Amino acid sequence: KSNAMWGGRFAAGPDAIMEAINASIGYDKRLYGQDIAGSRAHAAMLAAQGIITDSDAQTIREGLLTVLSEIEGGSFEFSTALEDIHMNVEARLKEIIGEPAGRLHTARSRNDQVATDFKLWTRDQVDGAIAGLEALIRALMAQAEAGADWVMPGFTHLQTAQPVTWGHHMMAYVEMFGRDMSRFADARARMNENPLGSAALAGTGFPIDRFATSAALGFDRPTANSLDAVADRDFALEFLSCCSISAMHLSRFAEELVIWSSAQFRFVALSDRFSTGSSIMPQKKNPDAAELIRAKIGRIMGAMVALFTVMKGLPLAYSKDMQEDKEQVFDAADNFMLALAAMTGMVSDMTAQVDNLRAAAASGFSTATDLADWLVREAGLPFRDAHHVTGTLVAMAEKQGCDLPDLSLEDMQSVNAAITKGIYSVLTVENSVASRVSYGGTAPEQVRLQIARWKEILG
Ligand code: ARG
Repeated sequence: KSNAMWGGRFAAGPDAIMEAINASIGYDKRLYGQDIAGSRAHAAMLAAQGIITDSDAQTIREGLLTVLSEIEGGSFEFSTALEDIHMNVEARLKEIIGEPAGRLHTARSRNDQVATDFKLWTRDQVDGAIAGLEALIRALMAQAEAGADWVMPGFTHLQTAQPVTWGHHMMAYVEMFGRDMSRFADARARMNENPLGSAALAGTGFPIDRFATSAALGFDRPTANSLDAVADRDFALEFLSCCSISAMHLSRFAEELVIWSSAQFRFVALSDRFSTGSSIMPQKKNPDAAELIRAKIGRIMGAMVALFTVMKGLPLAYSKDMQEDKEQVFDAADNFMLALAAMTGMVSDMTAQVDNLRAAAASGFSTATDLADWLVREAGLPFRDAHHVTGTLVAMAEKQGCDLPDLSLEDMQSVNAAITKGIYSVLTVENSVASRVSYGGTAPEQVRLQIARWKEILG
């Protein structure tokens, strides 16, 4: 049998393979809530404009609520032959209310319909991502507050560089996830224009009110070009870009947690709730959640690249290629939200191993820069000379198998006669971090300042 929606010019129905490649209902059923909300707004507007009768609009709007409750109650039968969520909903509406259902699609096309539904769905995900990032930021801030003055090694090249504070390290991620939040917020503001009423591509001759449907659906305004509106998937690409950048941040932090929880580092203990064991090695406690979070960037960024590749080279306006947008965004959104939630749980639960952090911070000549700075400040050496003297002292300590504070004053003075015992005060890790008071530096007082600033931002 030919198609109920466009059967007029068709003698034969589709091949089974055609149906299989054409149908999107298997995944776009997730848009049912947005589709029904969009249709209800459209019907109300059509009646307000005198395009359909009030009684038809009323019947349509109520019928759509019945469809909604059928879908949510699990009794709705989705049909592949009906291709997508839009036609599944409309066909069922027709079964329930009869003839008025056929008036719903006046002044509308699936092209503006799908763009609207998908945008509404993506907008909800943006809101979810912002809320999820805020929860993670709050968990990081709790860690930062507890450990504003716990000393740990700061690394460059994953080699001990200078001591930093635990709070400072946590707040570094607060900055990253804070930027991610604002990226999502920017994307939301840009995407919040209503495609509905662009119809197939050219707009419509019916006297519709696109501002009314925009208001009803929470859009800031209607889109300004109907060709653009049905062809645009920037909003999805921007969402995927935001997810990718944030997933990259999650991945970096996850990597640190994997390293930190290893027996070689012992910087943190992850909770049992966010770890797994081994089926063969009884002693094992593995950071699986962190590893999976580290991996999620693969599929999330993969989705972004996939959609970019689908969109490139598509002529205006709608092409069926664009149906391939949804699975990518669904998968990326699901996995991004899951990774965010897992990270938030892990961060809330983890315990810094404060003694190990301090011991690691004190090893590896981490206060060598402090020593060089002392030579500049107290002995008047040019920094380059101070750097050289300090390097000589590091080599000496390495040879003696000790750390910088363990060198005797005589040994130090044999390298540079201007050194006095005052130098020992800058060689402790506590003094080192306390001295880094430049704005944004690692000193506990600076870290507390930033925590206070973020509390104000989040309210
Ligand atoms: N299922 C389609 C999609 O996801 C809906 C739009 C179909 N439009 C069309 N002209 N065939 O893109």
